[in-house]
Amino acid sequence: MKNTCSNFCLVCFAISMSCSVCGLTDRCMKRCVQCKAVIYCSKSCQIKDWTVHKLKCTKKEKDSFLDKKNNMQSQNQPVKLFIKHNHEKHCVLIPQTLLNPKCILNIISEELLIPLDSLNLIAKGKVVNEDNVSDIVFRMKIRQFMAVGEAQESEKGMHIGDIDTIVEQLNVDRNKAIRGLKHCGGNLIDALLYVGDSL
Ligand SMILES: *[C@@H]1O[C@H](CO)[C@@H](O)[C@H](O)[C@H]1NC(C)=O
Repeated sequence: MKNTCSNFCLVCFAISMSCSVCGLTDRCMKRCVQCKAVIYCSKSCQIKDWTVHKLKCTKKEKDSFLDKKNNMQSQNQPVKLFIKHNHEKHCVLIPQTLLNPKCILNIISEELLIPLDSLNLIAKGKVVNEDNVSDIVFRMKIRQFMAVGEAQESEKGMHIGDIDTIVEQLNVDRNKAIRGLKHCGGNLIDALLYVGDSL
């Protein structure tokens, strides 16, 4: 049961998925775009499997051309999520071939610049987490979300090493270090003193 689920069931994929070739589970899984019945962790596993899989891989030939075209279009189009964060509305595209719930959260985290560990997602007044995000996006087709969490300050133009130094020396969070550096025009010593004073 677990095995069949892990290979195709759209409803169960949130529970368990593993690569059809190597059994790996913790990567961003992709489905065979043609039959959608097998899951791979990587291009190389897909290539390895192709000589065997191509014998079983079926496109739904009996569909009429138009059906097929519509079907392909709706299956290939990424899902659009609308996520409110700090009075801003972000549109985040989630590829339908993306099966790993962690990857969905990752995309959202990167788009909103909220680090994954401080990202809190809410849909219809309920918490959305790794256990139910796939279900909510692909099965329940919920599109409106709200995100809570402090966005990461932009590190553009800063020396990563300087940020790390402040974080380590003063045991402050990254955002605080970045703001300190910005305040001091990027001067590390000044920023260390400035952030240190503010503690
Ligand atoms: C997702 O799971 C969490 C905890 O398991 C639960 O509290 C929450 O209500 C679920 N979210 C939705 C939208 O059902």
